Amino acid sequence: PLVSMKEMLETAKGERYGVGQFNLNNLEYAQAILQAAEEEQSPVILGVSEGAGRYMGGFNVVVAMVKSLMESYGTTVPVAIHLDHGSSFEKCAEAIHAGFTSVMIDASHDPLEENIALTKKVVELAHIHGVSVEAELGRVGGQEDDLIVDDAEAAYAIPSECKQLVDETDVDVFAPALGSVHGPYKGEPNLGFDRMEEIMGLVDKPLVLHGGTGIPTADVKKAISFGTAKINVNTENQISQGKAVRKVLAEQPEQYDPRKYLGPGRDAIKETVIGKMREFGSSQKA
Ligand code: G3H
Ligand code: ZN
Repeated sequence: PLVSMKEMLETAKGERYGVGQFNLNNLEYAQAILQAAEEEQSPVILGVSEGAGRYMGGFNVVVAMVKSLMESYGTTVPVAIHLDHGSSFEKCAEAIHAGFTSVMIDASHDPLEENIALTKKVVELAHIHGVSVEAELGRVGGQEDDLIVDDAEAAYAIPSECKQLVDETDVDVFAPALGSVHGPYKGEPNLGFDRMEEIMGLVDKPLVLHGGTGIPTADVKKAISFGTAKINVNTENQISQGKAVRKVLAEQPEQYDPRKYLGPGRDAIKETVIGKMREFGSSQKA
């Protein structure tokens, strides 16, 4: 069934595993991720960035596609459709009205008071509709679609501010940026685990780890032990899909049937997602 992230992530936090947010880019992503989740009996979050939403034809198209795939597949595991890095109240409202079950309002670039005010406004609307809300403090480095944060701008969240934001806004899930990066890491990731532990003590909500691509398993486990219940992965699926598509096209330069190269690309996404579900411990938890 289609559900919000709230219960899914509170359970995950309590039982100490992580639920993956896997970003959608097109039909094949939705197919691969839903198939992986059902096979693994894992809860799953389908992340949709504003750019990917536009690419697929709008939020309403995304919801219709996911709903009818779930019907065709007879999906039994909990699935959330989540707006990733929502940039404004209007975009969050659009997603909520299109049928998303969860939204992120990313006002992390704003001063704290403005971030709090905007997040609060989104929470008020979302909760009327039974939609969960994720907020962010600090700044995740790297690039995802329209969201570009250079090294100098990337910032670690301040624990006292995290507590203030969560207390004043009633968000369901909280993403403190602690050194993670969108896209591949330059060198080893340097996650602020001391702060993560402190934040876990101050904030009674499941935490989110953005930039899941390229984080070593030991760090994933550590993050889960410090209250992280949601781990976002996008680039890694894109890399595996790209590799598989390139392989077919290199081996068969005359190939023009999209199913012959997008099919293997889809299989590669599915395999990557299954690997993540096992690594995060969400397999067999649906
Ligand atoms: O919001 C989405 C994620 O944080 C994805 O990050 O592309 O580095 O896996 P990633
Ligand atoms: Zn992110």
